[in-house]
Amino acid sequence: MRFITLLLLFLSLQSFSQSNSNDYYNETHRPQFHFTPESKWMNDPNGLVYYKGKYHLFYQYYPKDIVWGPMHWGHASSTDLFHWEHHPIALYPDKLGNIFSGCAVIDKKNTAGFGKDAMIAIFTYHNDDLWKKGYRNTESQAIAYSLDEGLTWTKYSGNPVIKNSSERDFRDPNVFWNDEINAWNMVLASGDRVKIFASDNLKDWKYKSDFKPNPDISKIGTWECVDLFKMNVKTENKEKWVMIVNHDKYTPNGGSGTRYFIGDFDGEVFTNTQSSKWLDYGTDFYAGITFYNAPENKRILISWMSNWLYAQKTPTKVWRSAMTLPRELELDKNDEGYFLIQKLAQGFDKILDTKISKSKIKLPYSAKKLNLSQAEISFNFEGKQMSLVFSNNKNESIKMNLKNGVFSLDRSQSGITNFSDKFAESTQTMLVDEKITDFQIILDRASMEILLNNGKYSMTTIFFPNEPFSNLKIESNENAKITNFKINNVQKTW
Ligand code: FRU
Repeated sequence: MRFITLLLLFLSLQSFSQSNSNDYYNETHRPQFHFTPESKWMNDPNGLVYYKGKYHLFYQYYPKDIVWGPMHWGHASSTDLFHWEHHPIALYPDKLGNIFSGCAVIDKKNTAGFGKDAMIAIFTYHNDDLWKKGYRNTESQAIAYSLDEGLTWTKYSGNPVIKNSSERDFRDPNVFWNDEINAWNMVLASGDRVKIFASDNLKDWKYKSDFKPNPDISKIGTWECVDLFKMNVKTENKEKWVMIVNHDKYTPNGGSGTRYFIGDFDGEVFTNTQSSKWLDYGTDFYAGITFYNAPENKRILISWMSNWLYAQKTPTKVWRSAMTLPRELELDKNDEGYFLIQKLAQGFDKILDTKISKSKIKLPYSAKKLNLSQAEISFNFEGKQMSLVFSNNKNESIKMNLKNGVFSLDRSQSGITNFSDKFAESTQTMLVDEKITDFQIILDRASMEILLNNGKYSMTTIFFPNEPFSNLKIESNENAKITNFKINNVQKTW
């Protein structure tokens, strides 16, 4: 009798712990293979750096609420960019201010004297009290170092390393070692431009130049979160510099958006050699930066998957907002100039399970009872026009359309939309100035990342359905052809 009671107790404890582990990261709308903080508010990725076999992701974090507040740096790491381990908060606000966005580098030559291979964070101090009173010089740049793989940090006693004198928006430093000048460079968003600095030791910085695009872009908004790096051109034996900037307005589909410039850089002055392009045309792709020191010289980017227009109101309670999947950038060229290509970082295929694979599908195509909650849909396309609809049994949907060189996405009926009148205000559109040949669409409960033509065009968007999408319909009124059609389930990585 006693044995049976003990056995029953053991079995019930087993099932309790199992149901508990199944509940982990399983709240409504919780992404299953994207990065989200365990709880509370997150915005920009910060300090993306690869070190001793691990990718480190720091991020703008407010641990006390699910809205923006005094900023800290949260911290997580991963060996494969898809399975993340959470770590304690890395940087806390102090009397100089809250910890705004920035970057991290590895000081291989011990230029700063904190130790060889020290991990050094370069970030903005934002003094909110002064900011609220309308003062202009409330943002300054500072550094901190870690000798234990980003777990504990010491702020430099001589902070700030760059004081602000006049610009109200003066933030989000991004630093890299530049072999060509044998020194560090920093790019910094400053009002409607980027300021460039150089330093031998990360502590003493010399101002070099302002970057404003040529030709001038009249409606530009505030610049935030910048990045500058050199890339090999895929189909040309040449290197070009890429500058990424983020804007709070005048973007293709409203609110936050990411632009890039291609040009030349000599360690002091960046000159764009062609007009800027948008890195993503969706509403939910912001503040993206790339990893420092990634293996094989790869450029891997992560963006924040939200938009300041409504980020603080989205319908989640435990945590708020997610990062995009990591994307590897490539630089290529056609007759019109250079352009970036975004591919999901290597290793994504390892978390896929193939569900449907057909060499051809007939249009119209309609399938029900699919698991589209965590899925990758991909196919090759031949034609000019098509529409694609994901829906559930509550008549909620995401509708896409390709027509006359415009790809559009409508999330007005996608479920919960009334938390902000900006959320479903208009259809998102993207100009596609060439034939669309392939689609890759990744759904993770509450987000969709769409890559067309092998990652040349990108649209990222979030949504909040009341039940998962399970129906897919693809139609064309112009005899379009779809081949290599695949639906893969994507595994939970938490
Ligand atoms: C961009 C941004 C940055 C700033 C941070 C504050 O989303 O506004 O410019 O450093 O967020 O959280």
